[in-house]
Amino acid sequence: MSHLSSSEIRQKFLDYFKKNGHVVVPSSSLIPTDPSVLLTTAGMQQFKKYYTGEADPVKDFGSKNTTSIQKSFRTSDIDEVGDETHLTFFEMLGNFSFSGYFKKEAIGYAHEFITKELNFPISYVTIFSPEGGSASGGKGSSEVPRDEESAGIWKDLGVTDIREEGMHDVFWGPTGTSGPCGPTTEIYCKNVKGEDVEIWNLVFNEFFFPGSREELLAGTSGKKLEPLKQKGVDTGMGFERLAMIIQQKSSIFETDLFTPVFKILPEEMDEKTKRVFADHSRAVCFLISDGVRPSNKEAGYILRRLTRRLIAYQAKVEIEKVLKTIVENYGAFYKKLDIKTILSVFEDENTKFSKTLSTGLKELAKISEVDTKSAFRLYESFGLPYETIKEVSGAKAGKLSREEFDEEFKKHQEISRAGVGKKFGGHGLILNTGELKAVNEEELNKVLCLHTATHLLQRALREVLGPEVKQTGSDITAERTRFDYSFPRKLIPEEIKKVEDLVNEKIKEDLPVNFKEMSKGEAEKTGALFFFKEKYPDMVKVYFVGKDIKSAWSKEFCGGPHVDHTGIIGHFKISKEESIGSGQRRIKGVVSG
Ligand code: SER
Repeated sequence: MSHLSSSEIRQKFLDYFKKNGHVVVPSSSLIPTDPSVLLTTAGMQQFKKYYTGEADPVKDFGSKNTTSIQKSFRTSDIDEVGDETHLTFFEMLGNFSFSGYFKKEAIGYAHEFITKELNFPISYVTIFSPEGGSASGGKGSSEVPRDEESAGIWKDLGVTDIREEGMHDVFWGPTGTSGPCGPTTEIYCKNVKGEDVEIWNLVFNEFFFPGSREELLAGTSGKKLEPLKQKGVDTGMGFERLAMIIQQKSSIFETDLFTPVFKILPEEMDEKTKRVFADHSRAVCFLISDGVRPSNKEAGYILRRLTRRLIAYQAKVEIEKVLKTIVENYGAFYKKLDIKTILSVFEDENTKFSKTLSTGLKELAKISEVDTKSAFRLYESFGLPYETIKEVSGAKAGKLSREEFDEEFKKHQEISRAGVGKKFGGHGLILNTGELKAVNEEELNKVLCLHTATHLLQRALREVLGPEVKQTGSDITAERTRFDYSFPRKLIPEEIKKVEDLVNEKIKEDLPVNFKEMSKGEAEKTGALFFFKEKYPDMVKVYFVGKDIKSAWSKEFCGGPHVDHTGIIGHFKISKEESIGSGQRRIKGVVSG
């Protein structure tokens, strides 16, 4: 048995198919041209139009047969990462034919590559049968007959363990909203523990389905499988699993694809966390290098979640070293990996998220049981992703499920699209307390700064003008704070300057900002400011700026959120002071970080 390095396996694969008349096509981007999928999930994606006859492979590649090593990403596996075999980003080795060859050659190549080139035994194979597999084969299965041809070819090659599976397991596609599809045959090999692992999926595209895979399986859409004008072959072999089998390791993370990163992860980190860390940091490198940027939707949202999960662990890991190591390990094959861009995008997101992370974690620590609503609020207010909440809270979030969280996320997106969102040009609000609104991280950070600055402002006004200053309202956007208060006259320039100076002095002192939850009576006794007209609940939060609540310079009844410490605010300036009615004044203020 061989102990090939991962680079040697890649090379062997491409050489083998080249030798057998295939043109080597470079991996396409993780951002697909096919709009029906969020990210590239398989090698065949870039070739879809050659199966359907919309494009001519001979014109584009000079051949009907191609081979590739494709960067792929499956979001559906995100919660599985941490076990022996699941990943988000992975590489897929594949060979493809668009009416060049079909089952006999495809199975012949796969058999020869595994048993001769890699010198590894096949444990068993599967073929399609409408009766095969678990009870729910999917109604659509009755239309497709048992794959006698593949069974015969395997038998002729001396493979005797041929198992039948149904529509759910061995029928590929369509990907997205329509596309080529057909029966598959899968190859299983034994891992070092003697367990069977699926390594290669050979798809025989014979049909086109004008609907989604779900519609096909349900068999109730009325849509019918149509024969493809030209039959095609699409094979896919997960590279990490193959490396695990060939290098005789019990998990993909023990292969040389991951060991360089594992070596620099701290020993005390538990195995599952190491795996998640290694997977996500690799995915982040590839996503960023293909042009994805953190955002609150689509591929950008996936990148944001992965990045933030890494940031939440960061205290324990030298992330920069990890990212550099990944690029060193993969850079020779994937020339597009760009460490400068990776580090700068990561750092940007780190700066944005770090500001709210610790506040979010503090909030989280105070919740005794994390349910969907509280988890979503943490996401909305502080950007804590589902994964981080789940991980940090342990048993406290035992009942929290991905499905319900996603449901809430969807509901919220719909609400903001239908209502308030319009005001912000259709973006989803990530913070909306009534007083504070933000649509993205950048705004959130600004709004938090302005919110704390508003507390400082009220305190400074009372210091300079006296306790007759009383807040009557406020409204904070990412651009400015608007503070309304009762006071009988216009402020003179010296007073404005004094107020500004005092606020900036407190910002410079970099005082901590915290809150305590207590009964209303107790809160009043602390001397915290509140609206006289407002009806507060029995339990209230008092936000205070200073070391402890007793000696704090500013204390107010407030729901939050705020910055962690005043230094983040930068510099405060009063941009306008005006009358809004008898005895009523308004100040507008801005901050610059
Ligand atoms: N498209 C199939 C898969 O992803 C074979 O390449 O498994």
